[in-house]
Amino acid sequence: MNKNKLVFANWKMNLHSEDINTLVKGVLNGLNDISGVDIVLAPTFPYLGIVKLLTANSKIRLSAQNVFWEESGSYTGEVSPGMLLDVGCTWAMIGHSERRQHLLETNEMINKKVLSSTLKGLNIILCVGESFDQRRTKKTFASISDQLHRGLRGVGEEFLPQIVIGYEPIWVIGSGQAASLNDISSVHNFIFTEVESMFPTAESLPRIVYGGSVNTTNVEQIVDLDNVDGVLVGNASMDCDKFCDIVLKVVK
Ligand code: 13P
Repeated sequence: MNKNKLVFANWKMNLHSEDINTLVKGVLNGLNDISGVDIVLAPTFPYLGIVKLLTANSKIRLSAQNVFWEESGSYTGEVSPGMLLDVGCTWAMIGHSERRQHLLETNEMINKKVLSSTLKGLNIILCVGESFDQRRTKKTFASISDQLHRGLRGVGEEFLPQIVIGYEPIWVIGSGQAASLNDISSVHNFIFTEVESMFPTAESLPRIVYGGSVNTTNVEQIVDLDNVDGVLVGNASMDCDKFCDIVLKVVK
């Protein structure tokens, strides 16, 4: 099982080629020779090639922010797992709350993406998280459980090493204030137990990473928690100094 912590940068729909050039060169410089941590950058589709070129001789890996479940055909605007692999992109994000919200992605669509991407050989990060309303009405665990069961339906345990679960409480994303350590800890422990019960004979279970207003100040305490195997970073991942600082704090 891969025990490295994971730091995953989700740039969302931000950054153009010039910013990307400066940011990635800065990150390569700042994290020169770093080991014992997996670093994945997720630019928008048009910039995958540029980031691939910039990171060619490094250990940094590339992720798409989305993927489609079919391999080719009449699906205007979509990109398949094989196409991502073809351009050197080895990861895909699936089920981010912003796609569930704005693009109306359902757990069934997400499940198809998980199945076809893993079968094709991609690594994936399956994002789950509760809304503020679900937390307020004490439905957090029921909601997370539902997303896990429906998102991972039919997944063979041989694919689990390719899967990471990203826990992102929707109400703290972009807020500047991460969830409390208690809340993070209880949901991560819940996810671990839930996935363990879904795959009782699996040799290795997916890593579980936390996302939602991770910054240079809170990251150390977050990754010190049991069952937190890394972080999924939005805003702070687009600032070179902050991102490098986060990676260095995760690895130490
Ligand atoms: P922020 O770090 O900006 O809260 O974003 C989190 C996120 O959505 C990463 O996928």
